[in-house]
Amino acid sequence: MKFFLDTADIGEIRELADTGLLDGVTTNPSLIAKSGRNIFEVVAEICDAVDGPVSAEVAATDFETMLAEGQKLAGIADNIAVKVPLTPAGLKTCRVLSQAGTMVNVTLCFSANQAILAAKAGASFISPFVGRLDDIAADGMNLIAEICEIYENYDDFDTEVLVASVRSPMHITEAAKMGAHVATVPASVLWSLFKHPLTDKGLDAFLTDWKKTGQSIL
Ligand code: E4P
Repeated sequence: MKFFLDTADIGEIRELADTGLLDGVTTNPSLIAKSGRNIFEVVAEICDAVDGPVSAEVAATDFETMLAEGQKLAGIADNIAVKVPLTPAGLKTCRVLSQAGTMVNVTLCFSANQAILAAKAGASFISPFVGRLDDIAADGMNLIAEICEIYENYDDFDTEVLVASVRSPMHITEAAKMGAHVATVPASVLWSLFKHPLTDKGLDAFLTDWKKTGQSIL
């Protein structure tokens, strides 16, 4: 399973890239706004800091402008995945960009049928938003299960399931059990995956006992 970081904060990205566990980054217009930075500058820095796909989202809603924006964003670096919304214009843009060899991440997916359309349009990634479904008392993880099952049925669907709007470590465990390819995760949730109270307690005990031996390994 791949982990992408869901942020446009270059400090957070560099810190996690240092662990060697980071496979990519996703941004969106809200995250760019939160960074307070120019989209081209910050996305170029992110592409430099991370080897894997870096999603940068278009802001237009009509096909012609969306395509022009997507082509401009794709020019930032080789590892850009252009993010388009799951609309007819977005999927038309997805087809043209993916046929030209650009990775496309189709975002704002809330149903299995939308995910089928994205796969047919040649998306590299489909982003179902689990947290936002949970927020309206729907079952976000059930959508992931449905999409994974459907994609498995068709050899010609190459789209990776990118679990988005992740809010807790349980979303990640469940997504991994279902075989989702990627989870895009806020930094706080990714760091929390390392944590277990028994790990801390066990380490404390080992260090205390080791001190008693008076030995040194180096
Ligand atoms: C992913 O690509 C999305 O930008 C992101 O996961 C949305 O998360 P949110 O629902 O917490 O804003």
